[in-house]
Amino acid sequence: MASQELQIPKHVAFIMDGNGRWAKKRFMPRTYGHRKGVKALKRTIRALDELGVEYATFYAFSTENWKRPADEVTELMKIFDEQLDGLVQYENENIRLRFIGDRDGLPQTLRDKMKHYEELSENRTGLTVIIAINYGGHDELCRAAKKMLLSAKDGFISESDITPELYKSFLDTGDMPNVDLMIRTGGEIRISNFLLWQIAYAELYFCDTLWPDFGKSELIKAVTEYSRRDRRFGRIK
Ligand code: IPE
Ligand code: IPE
Ligand code: MG
Repeated sequence: MASQELQIPKHVAFIMDGNGRWAKKRFMPRTYGHRKGVKALKRTIRALDELGVEYATFYAFSTENWKRPADEVTELMKIFDEQLDGLVQYENENIRLRFIGDRDGLPQTLRDKMKHYEELSENRTGLTVIIAINYGGHDELCRAAKKMLLSAKDGFISESDITPELYKSFLDTGDMPNVDLMIRTGGEIRISNFLLWQIAYAELYFCDTLWPDFGKSELIKAVTEYSRRDRRFGRIK
């Protein structure tokens, strides 16, 4: 890397982990940690925008998170519903908001709000913020396969059309670039079923910081580390 030159990734994905532990350390309920997590999300969006990142995907609720106690799940859905308004009324108002995951099974009011904000922001030209709610990598790959099968039944595609490019177009992230940098906070070194297809060549960055403590300086640390990585994509240098 040339001295201090930051390489800005086009697409950064975040596994926002550690809200519960952050709250527990303060003898507070886990949901307090989730509320502080939203503040960290907003700080991070602002910092990404300043850096010139084009796409940022945030893991908010996994297909596996339904296994949590019902009161935590209900509270999380309530937080998503309440906080969506604040996300697009972001000061420069140029954020494009998108959602990935299976919307079936989410509360109808939340689904309506998601659709509303996607439509409201679709022509914006700034940072695209993608929130993953009821998202699982396996589930997304299965839903894509089902869509492809229907498309084949309707005569639009046939077996010989199936390529990685075509498959990708059926994913929830079909029109978005693959991930360049994946950041997981909270100390666990795993992917937890996030963006399995899209991280094929992502640089992975894990830090111990709990998500509610994440912000601009942590992001810059991650991007600095990313800038030092030698991305070969199978080639030699
Ligand atoms: C991540 O924080 C947020 C969600 C999964 C919704 P956690 O709730 O997993 O926090 P920890 O990992 O228990 O600390
Ligand atoms: C991953 O965190 C999911 C989200 C951040 C939404 P988890 O806390 O659910 O992951 P595991 O269970 O530790 O793998
Ligand atoms: Mg966790």
